[in-house]
Amino acid sequence: MTLAVRDVEYLRALIARHSGNCLDATHDYLYESRLHRLTRGRGFSSVAQLVAALRSAPGSLLEHSVAEAMTINETSFFREPAAFELLRRTLLPALIARRRQRRNLLFWSAACSSGQEVYSLAMLLRENVPLLTSWTIDILGTDLCAELIARAAAARYSRVEVSRGLPTPLLLRYMVRAGDDAWEVSPALRSLCRFQPRNLCTTPPLPQLCDVIFLRNVMLYFPPATRARVLQTIHRSLAPDGILFLGATEQMPDSPLWKAVRTPGAVWYCPLPAR
Ligand SMILES: C[S@@+](CC[C@H](N)C(=O)[O-])C[C@H]1O[C@@H](n2cnc3c(N)ncnc32)[C@H](O)[C@@H]1O
Repeated sequence: MTLAVRDVEYLRALIARHSGNCLDATHDYLYESRLHRLTRGRGFSSVAQLVAALRSAPGSLLEHSVAEAMTINETSFFREPAAFELLRRTLLPALIARRRQRRNLLFWSAACSSGQEVYSLAMLLRENVPLLTSWTIDILGTDLCAELIARAAAARYSRVEVSRGLPTPLLLRYMVRAGDDAWEVSPALRSLCRFQPRNLCTTPPLPQLCDVIFLRNVMLYFPPATRARVLQTIHRSLAPDGILFLGATEQMPDSPLWKAVRTPGAVWYCPLPAR
């Protein structure tokens, strides 16, 4: 059944308020499919009934569940591999040299979905910098959606998920079989990674400065003012010589806070001092 226009508009406004994501008419087909499980799980017979319940209890926890259910969660291991390659070849060796006294590194995947980006970073580090076993490595994954954070922390992936982007040698080295159709990230790799729910639009900068931030494929649906605000928070969460990656198709808005460094395969962003 097609949702009434006023129900779609109600959902659009609610989602924008909670997650910063502005869905337009091209996403209208998503409401029924994305909200199906939540609708049934809460005992409603249709999405229209779910919207009626939302209207009758503004500010309820159900609003958060709706906003989370409507996020676009597409991800895979080593997605957009040019960024990982640039990190491996050039940026990471230089960063390690700069941190050799301190001997710790903090990575933040700021919209990590089900965690593949975080475990890809952990594998990249373990593969390419064996000497880091004597360093403190902290890879933080955060996402708006609590259910995705729970999935990421569980570190269990289906055969289809591991077949997307994860080279077989890495699969065999860093994942262990978990039944016929699933694999689990090894405890050694998991010990480098932690996960927390976090809304980029409403939370302050992280308490510690990060060395590398991946903020990829999340700002696509944020309006310009939200993007600018999130990028300010990210700027305050990144070390002055830190490294920011956006998604390959994302553009940094004009800003005095960032300098784009273009390489043949990928672009990264270097923070400039705030005036
Ligand atoms: C398309 S996935 C990107 C995952 C990964 N960074 C990548 O590039 O493969 C976008 C993620 O952003 C999350 N997200 C959307 N709005 C958010 C917000 N306001 N705060 C934090 N995460 C958000 C979604 O839940 C989703 O998991």
